[in-house]
Amino acid sequence: MMGRRRCIREVLFAAVVVTAAAAAASGGGLVVAAVRDDDFFVDGSVYCDTCRAGFETNATTPIAGAKVRLECRHYMSASGAVERSAEGTTDAAGRYRIELVDNRGAEEVCSVVLVSSPVPGCAEKEVGRDRAQVELLTDAGAGLATTVRRANPLGFLKNQPLPNCGQILSSYGLGSGPSY
Ligand SMILES: *[C@@H]1O[C@H](CO)[C@@H](O)[C@H](O)[C@H]1NC(C)=O
Repeated sequence: MMGRRRCIREVLFAAVVVTAAAAAASGGGLVVAAVRDDDFFVDGSVYCDTCRAGFETNATTPIAGAKVRLECRHYMSASGAVERSAEGTTDAAGRYRIELVDNRGAEEVCSVVLVSSPVPGCAEKEVGRDRAQVELLTDAGAGLATTVRRANPLGFLKNQPLPNCGQILSSYGLGSGPSY
C-alpha cells in the first residue's frame, strides 16, 4: 500500500515536470498564465452621435482612439472617492477592453466614464451617455461563467449635426428632432 501511494506521487511529480518543461519549451510562462476567476474584462464602445439624438441612430459612427476610464468606489464610501481606476482606449471599431484585476464583487461599485475624444467636432460628452455602470458580481447561479462584463455604449456629441438628421430622426418617429 505504502509503495503504491509513493509510486502515484512520483508519477504525478513527473507529470508536473513534463508539463512545465513543455510550457517552457513553447514560449515560457505566457502559455500557462491563466486568467484568474477574480480578474474581469470590461468591454464597451464609444460612438459619435452625429445627429445629437441622445441615442444611437443609423448615422452613429464609432470613435477610434477615444479614452475611457473604469472607476471603482467602495460601496459604502460617503465621499464617493474613486478607490482605483484603469484606463482604456478604443480601437478602430470604437471598442475598448479594460482589465480589472482582483474583482472585489459586492464591495465595489464600478463605472466606465468618458475621458476624451480625438475627433475634432465630436468631443462634447453626451450627458447621460458619458458614463455606464458595470455589473461585476459573479452570477454563478445564472451560469455567468464568463469573465467579460459589457458596459452600455458611451457617446460624444457632434457639434454640427449632419444635414440629413431631420430625415433620420423622423424615421425613428421623432418628427421635429431635438432642438440644436
Ligand atoms: C437610416 O438612414 C436613412 C438615411 O440615410 C433613412 O432614410 C432611414 O429611414 C434611417 N432609419 C432607419 C431606422 O433605418
